[in-house]
Amino acid sequence: MKRIGVLTGGGDCPGLNPVIRAIVRTARMENWAVIGFRRGWRGIIQNEFVELDLNSTSGILQRGGTIIGTSRTNPYKKDGDVAKIRRTMKLNKLDALIAIGGEDTLGAANKLYKDGIPVIGVPKTIDNDLNATDYTFGYDTALNIAMECIDRLHTTADSHDRIMVVEIMGRHAGWITLEAGIAGGADVVLIPEVPMTVKDICGYIEERHARGKNFSVIAVAEGFIIKGEKIVTTGKTLDAFGHVHLGGVGERLAKLIEKETGFETRATVLGHIQRGGSPTAFDRVLGTRFGVKAVQLVKDGKFGQMVSLCGRDIVSVALSSAVGKLKTVPADMYELAKVFFG
Ligand code: F6P
Repeated sequence: MKRIGVLTGGGDCPGLNPVIRAIVRTARMENWAVIGFRRGWRGIIQNEFVELDLNSTSGILQRGGTIIGTSRTNPYKKDGDVAKIRRTMKLNKLDALIAIGGEDTLGAANKLYKDGIPVIGVPKTIDNDLNATDYTFGYDTALNIAMECIDRLHTTADSHDRIMVVEIMGRHAGWITLEAGIAGGADVVLIPEVPMTVKDICGYIEERHARGKNFSVIAVAEGFIIKGEKIVTTGKTLDAFGHVHLGGVGERLAKLIEKETGFETRATVLGHIQRGGSPTAFDRVLGTRFGVKAVQLVKDGKFGQMVSLCGRDIVSVALSSAVGKLKTVPADMYELAKVFFG
């Protein structure tokens, strides 16, 4: 009988609970036990966990967030934490650890694997910026929320003859903004991969208004860089993995656009709304398939691997291939979005 530890790290996202449920269900078929560490790496460092069984994971498929909690704890920040993880694994007689997370969590998982811990990774993030998987769960839900918000902003922008700037999450990748912008019919889409001047942005708006349109909606990624300016941050300190806190580019842009065009402009920040609530069917199914595959990898002893979506198939790839380099929006996808600018 094997014993598996599970943890969820980094920003939460819809779809984490379906993965946990699938891990428990699949492990049960082998008669294996599963424990869930509380709040990411912090839980395994401090040996804080809950037993995960059929009852404690029942009714969670549709629930957003993560029932075991999360944090941005970095196990490689403080001396001695890796030794504590090793001790917790031994104390609980764990045969494997499944780490569910994004770039940071899986980066740490990869290092732990190299340090001799039997780890398997499951990719999650609303940002969809992880290499070596076509999609991460959480992304589809965030995308649909952002699209719905763009739809809603259209009607109020139209009523008031306004320009509405909507700031969308995604860190240094523009996936959510690009696809929500295309799906929601934003008039300009601004992503981190393509810096632009305020003059160029206003050019699209002015062209549109000259055609007789009375309003515009601009989708801007939180990591977008206004050409000639610095990336906009909240000014807070760095997180445990050394990341700046992005935020504020929507407000900054709204001011500059109003000044340049003379059109009344307002900014809306979607923020954590994009990460909350129930997962879409796509994210529930993807999370479920990832969870089942993760346990199969434990069975096969394929440690140091991450489950991944490749086309329609769930495969496994080396954890090292998923981290270190972000999957950003390719130029041809942005060219497609530009067809609809203005
Ligand atoms: O990585 C997911 C994400 O939601 C990013 O899009 C965003 O920049 C960041 O997390 C926000 O982090 P926090 O929840 O710590 O504010």
